[in-house]
Amino acid sequence: MITSTLSQQLRKAHHVVAFTGAGTSAESGIPTFRDALTGLWERFDPAQLATPEAFRADPSLCWGWYEWRRQKVVQAQPNGAHLAIAELASHVPKMTVVTQNVDDLHERAGSQDVIHLHGSLHSPRCIDCGLAYTLPLASYDLPAEGSRIEPPRCSACDGYVRPGVVWFGEMLPEDAWSAGLAAAEECDVFLSIGTSGIVYPAAELPLRALGNGATVVHINPARFDISSQEHFLEGPASVMMQSLLRDAFG
Ligand code: OAD
Repeated sequence: MITSTLSQQLRKAHHVVAFTGAGTSAESGIPTFRDALTGLWERFDPAQLATPEAFRADPSLCWGWYEWRRQKVVQAQPNGAHLAIAELASHVPKMTVVTQNVDDLHERAGSQDVIHLHGSLHSPRCIDCGLAYTLPLASYDLPAEGSRIEPPRCSACDGYVRPGVVWFGEMLPEDAWSAGLAAAEECDVFLSIGTSGIVYPAAELPLRALGNGATVVHINPARFDISSQEHFLEGPASVMMQSLLRDAFG
């Protein structure tokens, strides 16, 4: 199924980057953002939920929504794509996982030092002073969609605790962004898995990799236009990643 050229390139690669988006976690039951009908941004308004202004305007609505999402992640399991990405690291000299996802499914599949460009549902902090807040992992049953939950308060300044994700209009965490960029520019194979590739600056990474001569492979069940130098593996992330692993390393 996978072209032999790609398998060969993977076998001789020195540094492989797996750049992942919501589609990588879709088969674990975590909704994507933009898939028709099921995508979060098809059903919810980001302006009401994913900006600092939205949080300050209605902290309970916003916190409840992120707690709903966090509990979904807590109850989910890594899928074949997360597992294949983790396993790939044992076959190549260097592997970097750069994710736009705010779940911890890569870590739970065994990937190390995952770069989270858009933060994490599991690292909330005070909206006023930035102090990290330690959340119990599953403090209550899965909240119903749309539940309002009063956010906890910061122990230092009594400010509201906010989700540790990057919202619209916010900068990416500087360390994550520079590490992601460096990996994209250094790697020889760049796998872009389950992302619509429309949210910048993250979407710049495949372009940087391509510009630096890497083999860029897009893995997605929904075909989109790519340049003649890139590759496309059309299918679900778990199937395509498992095939790629098998074809390259047996
Ligand atoms: P999107 O929802 O924009 O895109 C998900 C992609 O996954 C689509 O291209 C789908 O075709 C694809 N997909 C669906 N099922 C799949 C499967 N089983 N295997 C592989 N691919 C599949 O999600 P992202 O590209 O991650 O930002 O979105 C980027 C950013 O936009 C997110 O990180 C988030 C959002 O606003 C922030 O929260 C800052």
